[in-house]
This record gives sequence, structure tokens and C-alpha cells, in this order.
Amino acid sequence: MRQIDIFDTTLRDGEQSPGVALNPGEKVQIARQLAKLGVNVIEAGFPIASPGDFEAVKRIAEEVRQVSICALARTQAQDIERAWEAILKAESPRIHTFIATSPIHMQYKLKKSPDAVLEQAVAGVKLAKSKVADIEFSAEDASRSDVDFLGRVFSAAIKAGATVLNIPDTVGYATPDEFAQFLRAVMERTEGIEKVKVSVHCHNDLGLAVANSLVAVQAGVHQLEGAINGIGERAGNAAVEELAMALKTRRDQYQVETTINSKEIARTSQMVSRLTGMIVQPNKAIVGKNAFAHESGIHQDGVLKERSTYEIMSPDSIGLDMDTIVLGKHSGRHAVRERLTELGLEVDEARMDEVFKEFKLLAERKKEVTSADLFSLVDTHVHDV
Ligand code: KIV
Ligand code: ZN
Repeated sequence: MRQIDIFDTTLRDGEQSPGVALNPGEKVQIARQLAKLGVNVIEAGFPIASPGDFEAVKRIAEEVRQVSICALARTQAQDIERAWEAILKAESPRIHTFIATSPIHMQYKLKKSPDAVLEQAVAGVKLAKSKVADIEFSAEDASRSDVDFLGRVFSAAIKAGATVLNIPDTVGYATPDEFAQFLRAVMERTEGIEKVKVSVHCHNDLGLAVANSLVAVQAGVHQLEGAINGIGERAGNAAVEELAMALKTRRDQYQVETTINSKEIARTSQMVSRLTGMIVQPNKAIVGKNAFAHESGIHQDGVLKERSTYEIMSPDSIGLDMDTIVLGKHSGRHAVRERLTELGLEVDEARMDEVFKEFKLLAERKKEVTSADLFSLVDTHVHDV
């Protein structure tokens, strides 16, 4: 089966989330966990951005093994020199250099003509190539760039030595059908495309980052970029755990595999949330507190009879040991009876009507009824009568 590489940018784009600042020690801790998770590339930071970022990338490059360590650099010489200084001790170093190619960015931000941008892209890739073999080149704001121009820039980047071409949807503007067509058009226009890996880096401004990444797989890309818990600039990046579990759960559809050890997903998500201070919303796919919880009576009854009625993945597959049945006001008699049995609380059918009625009253007040609540409820309404 074709392999899709997972490029994790939790420590670079993820750390660009407003309000997040990780110190080098915390970054090393996360990087070690990312290596355990099985990502192929860790983008450890942007060394020119700050001394702390440089220090973190350097320590990760020196201490974290069996994964590529990548540093970000604009196509400017001082960025590339600094990036190389930070990663030179990595087992498998990669420099990721980028320049914007969209008319909006070239005119207003860079104030450069398309030819000048192309020239700078080539100079940046050549300089990076003089340091290290593995070079990723990104055309920032690619999805709003002219497809013919992008083909020219990418062809030139390959000639200059790029090994990975990244096509970012920098502002999360793309929609799945259009993005897939766009990717195919770019690849058709790029000379030497068969010699390199193609990557996408999707932002989530319209909530489409994962969908856009998945159509990219169908369009033939080799690498997906994302961040744990979907953190990153503005609405964030494609969530790595969602990409991994979509490709695993729907392997029938995508026919690809990744090296992600899904059992490490919950631990990684919790570590990133704790160290960044970014809370995971309860209904977040895969890693939210409610992602595997069943509350309604109909769902609970179905799951108790056969899990696959309402579960397409198990909590165990992401390394979570949890009871998926949450007792609340929507729960039915079947789930309450099952939990009482698990707790060793014997209630005969004659008493069960009373217990279930009291359970419903309690659930109205408490939202979630715990095991401790059930013990006291049975004590009051069964044992004391
Ligand atoms: O979103 C973006 O375009 C980026 C690039 C640096 C790849 O983060
Ligand atoms: Zn980005």
C-alpha cells in the first residue's frame, strides 16, 4: 500500500496559536512524544524567529531520534544559515524554505514581481541544498496563486534541489473539489514532479482543513501536514489525529497507510493540551471528551447489544481506556441496569421501576450520574426500604 508521510507542525505552526508559548524543555517533551506517535517529520520551529526557538530546535535535533527534524526558513540567506545551524546534528535533517507566490502576497507583502519571487525561491533552495540533502520548498498562499506560475516556480525549485514540494492552503480558502483539481493542475505543470514528494498544508478557516487534505491524498500527494489537536495560526491546521484516524478507519476508500501508532494519540493530545494551555473542545473529533461517549437511551441500547451500531472506532484504538456509556437524563433502563450489574448492585425487577424513576430525577438535576450516585441511590431506595 502507498505510504502517506505525516509532517507534524505542532511545534512551529501550532505554537503560532495566539496565546501559546512553549519553552525549549516543553518542546523537547512534545517532540519525544511525537516520535513515539510515529510521525515522519517534526517541524521543530523557526530558528531565526527567536533565541528560544533556535535553542528548542537545536535540542530536538540533538535529542530526538528516528524521525526527520525540520526547521523553517524564509528563502533568505540569514534564515537558512540559522536553520541549518539548529538542525545540523539531527539524524535526518530537513530545511523547509518558503516564499509566497500569490498575486496578493507578492504585490502587498513582498512587493516583488513574479520573476523576482521565482529567482529568490531558486536562490533559497540552492543555498539550503548546499547544506543538506532534504529540502522542502513551500509556495506560501499556493491555493490563491496562478497555476501556471506555480508550475514554473515548482519546476525551478526541483532543478535547484528541492526534494519535497509543499502546496499550502495558507488562509484556509480552498474547498475540496476545487482544491483537488488545483493540485492535479499544478502537478501537471511541474517538470520533474515524479522525482519529488508532494505535500499539502491545510488551514482550517472554513473548517475544511482535514477534508482538503483527504482529497489531496486522492489527487496523489505523498505528505500531509498538520498539528495535534488542530492548533495553529487563526483557526489552526489540519488535526493530525483526524488525518491519521480518517486514513485508518476508511482505509477501504483511501488505500494508503501511515506510520502513526494510533494508540499514542490520546496521550499526545493530552500532553499538547496541557503544555500549550489550549483546551480541547468536548465534541472535538477523535480526542474530545465526548468523542466516544454515548448518552441517549437508543444509542446506549444499540451499543450494549453490538458496539458497531454507533461506534466506527473504539476508544482503545487511540489509547483510551474509558467507559463509553455516560449516564444522563437521556439514558435508558438497559444502560442503567447494565451499570448496576457492573457495580455489583443487585436490584430485582420489582424495585427497578422505583430506582429508574429516581435515576431520571437525579439526572435532570445533575446532568451526569456517576457510580457514586448509583450506590447512594440504591442504598436509599432499595436497601433502606
Ligand atoms: O500556512 C503556510 O503557508 C505556512 C507555510 C510556512 C508552509 O505555514
Ligand atoms: Zn501554516
